[in-house]
Amino acid sequence: MTADRAYRVLVLNGPNLGRLGTREPDVYGSGTLDDLRQRLEAEAPSGVTIDLRQTDDEATLIGWLHEAVDSASPVILNPAAFTHYSYALSDAAKLVTGAGLLLIEVHLSNPHAREEFRHTSVISAVATGVIAGFGFDSYSLALELVGRRLAA
Ligand code: DQA
Repeated sequence: MTADRAYRVLVLNGPNLGRLGTREPDVYGSGTLDDLRQRLEAEAPSGVTIDLRQTDDEATLIGWLHEAVDSASPVILNPAAFTHYSYALSDAAKLVTGAGLLLIEVHLSNPHAREEFRHTSVISAVATGVIAGFGFDSYSLALELVGRRLAA
């Protein structure tokens, strides 16, 4: 698939996702963020570049969402634990979709099949859509959707 112009997709990852590979591999798998980056780069439609980042810091993540608005970049966001309580991140995500940009919330695990506190997402209501429970495939599916929308 080819996007009609060059696009950068921001693939943003919240707290503790820098520990992928060793963090609860039974839940999150044994792949690292570098593995994920390589995989998404290989899968990216032509004309689409992957800018994958991770931070444990809420303010940094919010700043990246502002950057997405200013640069009109679609976003694939794994907010990690911020998913469940960060109204500041929710407001920032709303700026992205409010600007008419795609923001796909992704999770490696299925939070609804886990502890009660993970059943709430303050991001989902302001996201374009949500993909959860498929490991790295959650990101791949989100990227495929971004490619489809950009080509449409
Ligand atoms: C997660 C699910 C969250 O509940 C958790 O806090 C994470 C990862 C996931 O990708 O499954 O850090 O977002």
